[in-house]
Amino acid sequence: TLGLKTEIFGRNLYYYDSVESTQKIASKLANEAAEEGTVVISEEQTAGRGRMDRKWHSPKHTGIWMSILLRPKIPISKAPQLTLITAVGVVQAIEEATELLPQIKWPNDIMVNGKKITGILTELQAEADSIHSVIIGIGMNVNTLEADFPEEIRRTASSLSIEAGRTIGREELIRTILEKLEKLYLLYLTKGFLPIKLMWESYAISIGKQIIARTITGEISGKTIGITEDGVLLIEDSAGVIHHIYSADIKMNE
Ligand code: BTN
Repeated sequence: TLGLKTEIFGRNLYYYDSVESTQKIASKLANEAAEEGTVVISEEQTAGRGRMDRKWHSPKHTGIWMSILLRPKIPISKAPQLTLITAVGVVQAIEEATELLPQIKWPNDIMVNGKKITGILTELQAEADSIHSVIIGIGMNVNTLEADFPEEIRRTASSLSIEAGRTIGREELIRTILEKLEKLYLLYLTKGFLPIKLMWESYAISIGKQIIARTITGEISGKTIGITEDGVLLIEDSAGVIHHIYSADIKMNE
Protein backbone atom coordinates (compact mmCIF):
# COMPACT_ATOMS: atom_id res chain seq x y z
CA THR A 1 0.00 0.00 0.00
CA LEU A 2 1.07 3.52 -0.72
CA GLY A 3 -0.31 5.20 2.42
CA LEU A 4 -2.00 7.83 0.29
CA LYS A 5 -3.24 11.03 1.88
CA THR A 6 -5.79 11.57 -0.90
CA GLU A 7 -9.59 11.43 -0.90
CA ILE A 8 -10.27 10.69 -4.56
CA PHE A 9 -7.08 9.94 -6.47
CA GLY A 10 -5.95 6.36 -6.01
CA ARG A 11 -8.70 5.24 -3.63
CA ASN A 12 -9.28 2.55 -6.20
CA LEU A 13 -5.92 1.41 -7.40
CA TYR A 14 -5.30 -1.37 -9.91
CA TYR A 15 -1.74 -2.60 -9.95
CA TYR A 16 -0.36 -4.91 -12.65
CA ASP A 17 2.92 -6.58 -13.44
CA SER A 18 2.50 -6.29 -17.19
CA VAL A 19 -0.25 -4.89 -19.44
CA GLU A 20 -0.51 -3.68 -23.01
CA SER A 21 -1.40 -0.16 -21.94
CA THR A 22 -2.74 1.28 -18.70
CA GLN A 23 -4.82 3.67 -20.85
CA LYS A 24 -6.66 0.74 -22.36
CA ILE A 25 -7.45 -0.75 -18.95
CA ALA A 26 -8.53 2.59 -17.50
CA SER A 27 -10.91 3.26 -20.39
CA LYS A 28 -12.42 -0.18 -19.99
CA LEU A 29 -12.91 0.53 -16.27
CA ALA A 30 -14.47 3.87 -17.20
CA ASN A 31 -17.07 2.06 -19.27
CA GLU A 32 -17.75 -0.27 -16.35
CA ALA A 33 -18.70 2.78 -14.25
CA ALA A 34 -15.47 2.91 -12.22
CA GLU A 35 -15.28 5.84 -9.83
CA GLU A 36 -13.52 9.11 -10.46
CA GLY A 37 -9.95 8.92 -9.22
CA THR A 38 -9.44 5.28 -10.17
CA VAL A 39 -5.76 4.69 -10.88
CA VAL A 40 -4.15 1.99 -13.02
CA ILE A 41 -0.41 1.33 -12.66
CA SER A 42 1.73 -1.30 -14.34
CA GLU A 43 5.37 -2.28 -13.93
CA GLU A 44 5.62 -2.73 -17.68
CA GLN A 45 3.60 -1.91 -20.80
CA THR A 46 3.99 -4.02 -23.91
CA ALA A 47 2.09 -1.55 -26.11
CA GLY A 48 2.42 1.79 -24.33
CA ARG A 49 0.91 4.64 -26.33
CA GLY A 50 2.25 8.15 -26.82
CA ARG A 51 0.69 11.16 -28.47
CA MET A 52 0.18 11.22 -32.22
CA ASP A 53 -0.01 7.42 -32.44
CA ARG A 54 3.54 6.98 -31.29
CA LYS A 55 4.78 4.13 -29.15
CA TRP A 56 5.73 4.82 -25.55
CA HIS A 57 8.67 2.74 -24.45
CA SER A 58 7.77 1.30 -21.01
CA PRO A 59 10.33 -1.25 -19.79
CA LYS A 60 9.81 -3.21 -16.58
CA HIS A 61 10.48 -1.66 -13.16
CA THR A 62 12.15 1.45 -14.56
CA GLY A 63 9.38 3.99 -14.69
CA ILE A 64 5.92 5.06 -13.61
CA TRP A 65 3.33 4.00 -16.17
CA MET A 66 0.04 5.20 -14.77
CA SER A 67 -3.47 6.22 -15.89
CA ILE A 68 -5.98 8.20 -13.85
CA LEU A 69 -9.72 8.22 -14.53
CA LEU A 70 -11.53 11.54 -14.08
CA ARG A 71 -15.12 12.57 -14.64
CA PRO A 72 -15.03 16.37 -14.60
CA LYS A 73 -18.21 18.28 -15.34
CA ILE A 74 -16.63 20.62 -17.85
CA PRO A 75 -17.30 21.28 -21.54
CA ILE A 76 -15.15 19.38 -24.03
CA SER A 77 -13.43 22.61 -25.10
CA LYS A 78 -11.86 22.87 -21.63
CA ALA A 79 -10.40 19.37 -21.63
CA PRO A 80 -6.89 20.51 -22.72
CA GLN A 81 -6.65 22.28 -19.35
CA LEU A 82 -6.46 18.88 -17.69
CA THR A 83 -3.20 18.12 -19.48
CA LEU A 84 -1.73 21.39 -18.22
CA ILE A 85 -2.94 20.74 -14.67
CA THR A 86 -1.30 17.32 -14.79
CA ALA A 87 1.95 18.83 -16.03
CA VAL A 88 2.01 21.25 -13.08
CA GLY A 89 1.38 18.41 -10.60
CA VAL A 90 4.12 16.28 -12.11
CA VAL A 91 6.60 19.16 -11.98
CA GLN A 92 5.75 19.84 -8.33
CA ALA A 93 6.21 16.16 -7.49
CA ILE A 94 9.61 16.01 -9.22
CA GLU A 95 10.67 19.14 -7.35
CA GLU A 96 9.70 17.55 -4.07
CA ALA A 97 11.39 14.21 -4.78
CA THR A 98 14.64 15.50 -6.27
CA GLU A 99 16.91 18.55 -6.49
CA LEU A 100 16.17 18.84 -10.21
CA LEU A 101 14.53 21.81 -11.93
CA PRO A 102 11.84 20.40 -14.21
CA GLN A 103 10.23 22.55 -16.89
CA ILE A 104 7.19 22.16 -19.12
CA LYS A 105 7.25 22.15 -22.88
CA TRP A 106 3.74 22.78 -24.20
CA PRO A 107 1.51 20.92 -24.00
CA ASN A 108 2.65 17.86 -22.20
CA ASP A 109 6.36 17.26 -22.05
CA ILE A 110 8.23 17.55 -18.78
CA MET A 111 11.86 18.34 -19.43
CA VAL A 112 14.94 18.27 -17.24
CA ASN A 113 18.17 19.75 -18.61
CA GLY A 114 16.57 19.95 -22.04
CA LYS A 115 15.62 16.27 -22.18
CA LYS A 116 12.20 14.67 -21.95
CA ILE A 117 11.56 12.87 -18.66
CA THR A 118 7.77 12.56 -18.70
CA GLY A 119 4.95 12.57 -21.22
CA ILE A 120 1.25 13.07 -20.60
CA LEU A 121 -1.53 11.64 -22.76
CA THR A 122 -5.08 12.88 -22.21
CA GLU A 123 -7.85 10.87 -23.84
CA LEU A 124 -11.52 11.54 -23.42
CA GLN A 125 -14.82 9.85 -24.03
CA ALA A 126 -17.78 12.13 -24.57
CA GLU A 127 -21.41 12.00 -25.58
CA ALA A 128 -22.69 15.07 -27.40
CA ASP A 129 -21.02 17.92 -25.49
CA SER A 130 -20.74 16.20 -22.14
CA ILE A 131 -17.64 14.41 -20.97
CA HIS A 132 -18.19 10.85 -19.88
CA SER A 133 -14.64 10.24 -18.76
CA VAL A 134 -11.12 11.52 -19.15
CA ILE A 135 -8.14 9.22 -18.90
CA ILE A 136 -4.92 10.95 -18.02
CA GLY A 137 -1.86 8.87 -18.81
CA ILE A 138 1.47 9.71 -17.22
CA GLY A 139 4.65 8.07 -18.44
CA MET A 140 7.65 8.95 -16.31
CA ASN A 141 11.16 7.70 -16.87
CA VAL A 142 12.36 7.28 -13.29
CA ASN A 143 15.23 4.82 -12.98
CA THR A 144 15.69 4.18 -16.68
CA LEU A 145 19.33 3.76 -17.73
CA GLU A 146 20.66 5.27 -20.91
CA ALA A 147 21.01 1.81 -22.44
CA ASP A 148 17.31 1.10 -21.80
CA PHE A 149 16.23 3.80 -24.27
CA PRO A 150 15.87 2.87 -27.91
CA GLU A 151 18.69 4.33 -30.00
CA GLU A 152 16.48 6.88 -31.75
CA ILE A 153 15.39 8.68 -28.57
CA ARG A 154 18.65 8.45 -26.61
CA ARG A 155 19.63 12.02 -27.46
CA THR A 156 16.29 13.57 -26.52
CA ALA A 157 15.02 11.43 -23.63
CA SER A 158 16.32 10.99 -20.12
CA SER A 159 15.27 9.78 -16.69
CA LEU A 160 15.22 11.25 -13.22
CA SER A 161 18.00 8.90 -12.08
CA ILE A 162 20.26 9.82 -14.99
CA GLU A 163 19.80 13.53 -14.29
CA ALA A 164 19.93 13.27 -10.50
CA GLY A 165 22.75 10.74 -10.42
CA ARG A 166 20.95 8.46 -7.99
CA THR A 167 18.09 5.97 -7.82
CA ILE A 168 14.71 7.53 -7.07
CA GLY A 169 12.04 5.69 -5.03
CA ARG A 170 9.08 5.11 -7.29
CA GLU A 171 6.47 4.43 -4.60
CA GLU A 172 7.01 7.68 -2.84
CA LEU A 173 7.00 9.50 -6.15
CA ILE A 174 3.66 7.94 -7.14
CA ARG A 175 2.22 9.03 -3.80
CA THR A 176 3.52 12.57 -4.24
CA ILE A 177 2.19 12.82 -7.80
CA LEU A 178 -1.30 11.68 -6.76
CA GLU A 179 -1.35 14.05 -3.79
CA LYS A 180 -0.22 17.06 -5.83
CA LEU A 181 -2.63 16.25 -8.63
CA GLU A 182 -5.60 15.87 -6.34
CA LYS A 183 -4.89 19.24 -4.72
CA LEU A 184 -4.61 20.94 -8.11
CA TYR A 185 -7.72 19.21 -9.47
CA LEU A 186 -9.82 20.31 -6.48
CA LEU A 187 -8.42 23.84 -6.78
CA TYR A 188 -9.40 23.78 -10.45
CA LEU A 189 -12.95 22.60 -9.74
CA THR A 190 -13.49 25.28 -7.09
CA LYS A 191 -11.45 28.25 -8.35
CA GLY A 192 -11.21 27.65 -12.09
CA PHE A 193 -8.17 27.44 -14.33
CA LEU A 194 -6.58 30.85 -13.73
CA PRO A 195 -4.48 30.04 -10.63
CA ILE A 196 -3.14 26.94 -12.37
CA LYS A 197 -2.47 28.82 -15.61
CA LEU A 198 -0.15 31.12 -13.63
CA MET A 199 1.71 28.17 -12.11
CA TRP A 200 1.95 26.53 -15.52
CA GLU A 201 3.43 29.65 -17.08
CA SER A 202 6.05 29.90 -14.35
CA TYR A 203 7.32 26.45 -15.35
CA ALA A 204 7.01 26.79 -19.12
CA ILE A 205 10.21 26.82 -21.18
CA SER A 206 8.72 27.89 -24.42
CA ILE A 207 7.07 31.25 -23.66
CA GLY A 208 8.69 34.12 -25.57
CA LYS A 209 10.84 31.77 -27.66
CA GLN A 210 11.01 31.18 -31.39
CA ILE A 211 9.50 27.82 -32.16
CA ILE A 212 8.19 25.69 -34.98
CA ALA A 213 4.84 24.01 -34.37
CA ARG A 214 4.20 20.98 -36.53
CA THR A 215 0.44 20.47 -36.76
CA ILE A 216 -1.59 18.06 -38.88
CA THR A 217 -2.23 20.82 -41.39
CA GLY A 218 1.35 22.08 -41.66
CA GLU A 219 4.10 23.99 -39.91
CA ILE A 220 3.80 27.35 -38.23
CA SER A 221 6.85 29.20 -37.00
CA GLY A 222 6.89 32.20 -34.76
CA LYS A 223 7.21 33.37 -31.20
CA THR A 224 5.10 31.83 -28.44
CA ILE A 225 3.22 34.48 -26.55
CA GLY A 226 1.38 32.37 -24.01
CA ILE A 227 -1.59 30.10 -23.56
CA THR A 228 -5.27 30.99 -23.53
CA GLU A 229 -7.64 30.41 -20.65
CA ASP A 230 -8.54 27.11 -22.37
CA GLY A 231 -4.94 25.94 -22.61
CA VAL A 232 -4.50 26.70 -26.30
CA LEU A 233 -1.00 27.80 -27.35
CA LEU A 234 -0.67 31.21 -29.02
CA ILE A 235 2.06 31.81 -31.60
CA GLU A 236 2.77 35.12 -33.32
CA ASP A 237 4.34 34.74 -36.75
CA SER A 238 6.71 37.23 -38.41
CA ALA A 239 3.77 39.02 -40.05
CA GLY A 240 2.20 39.62 -36.64
CA VAL A 241 -0.59 37.11 -37.17
CA ILE A 242 -1.57 35.20 -34.03
CA HIS A 243 -2.21 31.47 -34.45
CA HIS A 244 -4.14 29.27 -32.03
CA ILE A 245 -2.47 25.88 -31.70
CA TYR A 246 -4.66 23.08 -30.35
CA SER A 247 -2.38 20.19 -31.02
CA ALA A 248 1.16 20.07 -32.35
CA ASP A 249 4.73 18.99 -31.89
CA ILE A 250 6.92 21.86 -30.81
CA LYS A 251 10.51 22.34 -31.88
CA MET A 252 12.61 25.10 -30.39
CA ASN A 253 14.09 27.19 -33.19
CA GLU A 254 17.39 28.46 -31.79
C1 BTN B 1 3.61 11.43 -24.94
O1 BTN B 1 4.49 12.21 -24.53
O2 BTN B 1 3.53 11.14 -26.13
C2 BTN B 1 2.64 10.86 -23.94
C3 BTN B 1 3.13 9.58 -23.33
C4 BTN B 1 2.15 8.96 -22.33
C5 BTN B 1 2.61 7.61 -21.82
C6 BTN B 1 1.73 7.08 -20.72
S1 BTN B 1 2.43 5.70 -19.85
C7 BTN B 1 0.92 5.40 -19.03
C8 BTN B 1 -0.18 5.61 -20.06
N1 BTN B 1 -0.40 4.39 -20.82
C9 BTN B 1 -0.07 4.53 -22.11
O3 BTN B 1 -0.16 3.62 -22.97
N2 BTN B 1 0.38 5.78 -22.34
C10 BTN B 1 0.35 6.59 -21.14
